[in-house]
Amino acid sequence: MDYDDLEKMLNENKVDYVTVTAASNVTGYVTDVHRVAKMAHAHGAKIVVDGAQIVAHRAFSMMGDTPEENIDFFVFSAHKMYSPYGGGAVVGLVDELNKHMPEFYGGGIVRIVSDSWQTYKDAPSVYEAGSPNYPGVVGMGKAIEVLEEVGFDAIEEHEKALINKLVEGLKKQDNVIIYGDSDDLSDRVGVVSFNFTDVNSFHLSRKMSEIGAVATRRGAFCAHPYVWRLMGISEDQQRGFLECDDSGTPGMIRVSFGIYNTEEEVDEFLRILEDALAICREEITAFNPEY
Ligand SMILES: Cc1ncc(COP(=O)(O)O)c(C=O)c1O
Repeated sequence: MDYDDLEKMLNENKVDYVTVTAASNVTGYVTDVHRVAKMAHAHGAKIVVDGAQIVAHRAFSMMGDTPEENIDFFVFSAHKMYSPYGGGAVVGLVDELNKHMPEFYGGGIVRIVSDSWQTYKDAPSVYEAGSPNYPGVVGMGKAIEVLEEVGFDAIEEHEKALINKLVEGLKKQDNVIIYGDSDDLSDRVGVVSFNFTDVNSFHLSRKMSEIGAVATRRGAFCAHPYVWRLMGISEDQQRGFLECDDSGTPGMIRVSFGIYNTEEEVDEFLRILEDALAICREEITAFNPEY
């Protein structure tokens, strides 16, 4: 996070909402969201924090040391914290939420409906249209309990050991690009994205799955502009991807650690990576060495 750039944007624009990730799902960098909250509030803006990548990795508090540092809205998808798919939460200022119309229409959001008018309930009901996702919510509650039982200090320590080992191993490979600072990993959650200058990331990721049942995420991770910027890909190059299939569209390979991963698995991962790299280098036909 470039805090000076954010300050500049706040100074130069009329900003209502500042939206940031608490931790990036591309590089794992943790944002000092309370610092951002203070900056946003000083300019009359509110702050929305995307917590999808932090909730399973770090304890998170919406409260800062002072009221100006408090987070106004915290949103997250629960599947990244070992909960069933389809759950998630928006935690925010009720008065602010009540200023808006519902996002979806359905059962449970109205007070009265007549032929020509209707009135809505207040938040949170107005945002909970239709039959609720009970299994998702119960699963999310249980996931939060389990994470708290395991303990966020233990999770952080465990992840640090895993990413240190992984990055040390990756650094030994020829032609590797590791995104973000690969020497100081102190402000990162358990996510590492990388590439090889001479191997197509789509083929490498698939090969690791085929030969070793290793699941990596490959692509632009629902964060295209950030990924293209880190990869140094221009706007014009991006337009060229419209003609490409998945394998021709550049991207990164990402390893994401969970609480169940072990150091032995990191060793195994590095072994399979080396095998997959050797096979890909032999098989390479249609790739663009620029990526
Ligand atoms: C930081 C971040 N925000 C948002 C999302 C997207 O969540 P969803 O798939 O529920 O839209 C993800 C990935 O799941 C993420 O890592």
